[in-house]
Amino acid sequence: MKIAVVGTGYVGLVTGTCFAETGNHVTCVDIDMNKIEALRKGVTPIYEPGLEVLLTRNIKEERISFTDDLKEAVKEAVVIFLALPTPSDQDGSADLKYVLQVAEELSGMITSYKVIVNKSTVPVGTCEKVTAALSKKLSKDLFDVVSNPEFLREGVAVEDFLKPERVVVGSSSEKASKIMGELYSPFVRQGNPIYFMDARSAEMTKYAANSFLAMKISFMNEMANLCEKAGANVDWVRIGMGSDQRIGKRFLFPGIGYGGSCFPKDVLALNLTAKEYDYDFKLLRSVLEVNKIQKKLIVDKIRNHYKNNLSGKHFALWGLAFKPETDDIRDAPSLDIIEALLGAGATLSVYDPVAMENIRKKFSDRIGYGMNQYEVLHNADGLLILTEWSEFRNPDFDKMKRLLKEYAIFDGRNVYALEKMREMNFHYESIGREI
Ligand code: UGA
Repeated sequence: MKIAVVGTGYVGLVTGTCFAETGNHVTCVDIDMNKIEALRKGVTPIYEPGLEVLLTRNIKEERISFTDDLKEAVKEAVVIFLALPTPSDQDGSADLKYVLQVAEELSGMITSYKVIVNKSTVPVGTCEKVTAALSKKLSKDLFDVVSNPEFLREGVAVEDFLKPERVVVGSSSEKASKIMGELYSPFVRQGNPIYFMDARSAEMTKYAANSFLAMKISFMNEMANLCEKAGANVDWVRIGMGSDQRIGKRFLFPGIGYGGSCFPKDVLALNLTAKEYDYDFKLLRSVLEVNKIQKKLIVDKIRNHYKNNLSGKHFALWGLAFKPETDDIRDAPSLDIIEALLGAGATLSVYDPVAMENIRKKFSDRIGYGMNQYEVLHNADGLLILTEWSEFRNPDFDKMKRLLKEYAIFDGRNVYALEKMREMNFHYESIGREI
C-alpha cells in the first residue's frame, strides 16, 4: 500500500519505518530540510533502540523516502497519517494549529480517495475538526478521517509498534476501516485485537489510558510517602498488591514523579476536556497535584539532610532523561530538581548515558558535565539518582566512596537494596523505604 506520513517526529518516524518494514511504500514529509537530509542517510534525530537499523534497511530497499514536498508525498498515497506536534497551549489544552493547517493544505491537493489518519494525541472532537478543515475545498466522497491513537512507549517504540497489545481505530466509514484493517493485519497476526469504534471513543481511549497510567504512578508515589511515615517498605507493598491480577505488577514503581512528552501533557489536556464539558474530574486533579509535589520531595530530603544549607554544596547527578533508554528530557523531573538545587545555592555535575547533549542545550555552563558516571562523583557532597539506567544498578561502590566527599546517595528510583547500602555504609535515602 502507498502511505504518506506527515511529520517525522517520534511518532511519525516510528510509524513510517514500521509500515515500510511490512512491505508498504512510505513517503515521510517534514518541513525541516536538515532533518530530511539526515533521515535520507539513515540518521535518526532521536535515540530509539532498533529504529536506525530498520530505517537503513528500508531506505536500501527503497520502501521509505523523505521529502519536504507535501503535494508530491500525498499524490499516490491511499493513507495519509498526520503525526504532527500538538503542544500544550498556555492553559494546557492541546494546540491543534499544525494538524488543522496541514488538513487545510491537503484539502487543496487531494484528487483521489484518501484515508486521513489522526495519529497524534488529540482531544475528543478533533476528527470532526479535521473533517471540517478538509471539507473546505474537498468533496466528502474523496476522503475519510479516522482516529488511530498510538500507544508507543519511548525506548521500546519499535517493539510496541511491531507487536501491539491492541490497535484502536475510530472510524465511521466502512471503506476506511477496511483499509486500516489491511494495513495493520501484519501486526495483529498473533490474535492481538484491532478495535474498531467511533472516532470520539478512540480519541478518548488514548487519554484514558495515559491518564490511568499516570494515576497508577501518582497513587504509588503517595503510597510510598505514607510507607515512609508508617515504617513500611513500599517495595514489599508493591509486590504484595501487584500480585493481584486485577491490579497487575507493572507500572507500580514509585519515584520522583512521571515525566516525558505524554503523561504531563495528556493529563492536563484531559482535565481541560472535562472542564469544557462541565465535569469536575476530581481524581485527575489530584494526579496532577501529587506529581507536582513528588518532583520536589527529593530536594526536601536533601535540604533536610544538609540542615537547610545547600549553599556551596556540590552534588553529582546520575540520570537526566525522563526514563531509561531515551535521550528525551521533555518534562523530565531532573529539570525541576536541577533548578531547585541551583536555586538553593548548590553546584552540580551531571551524567546521563545518552541525554547529555539535550541537557547541555538547556543548562549550558550553569552546571558541570561528566564523561562518565564516576567522573561526576569527584568531591561531591552527595549523589542523586534520577533515572534508573541499567549501568547505575551495579556500580563499583568502593570506587564511588573513593571519589565522593560524603557517602550520601539520594535515590529517586529505588535502584539499590537497603541491605547493600547499610553494608557499604552509605547514607541512603530512597522513595517509600526507611533511611
Ligand atoms: C507513555 C505511555 O506509556 C505510552 O503507552 C503512550 O503511547 C505514550 O506515553 C504516548 O502517549 O505517546 P512514555 O511517555 O514513553 O509512554 O513513557 P512511560 O514508560 O509510560 O513512562 C512515563 C513516566 O512514568 C516516566 O517518567 C517514568 O519514569 C514514569 N514511571 C513509569 C514511574 O514513575 N513508575 C512506573 O512504574 C512507570
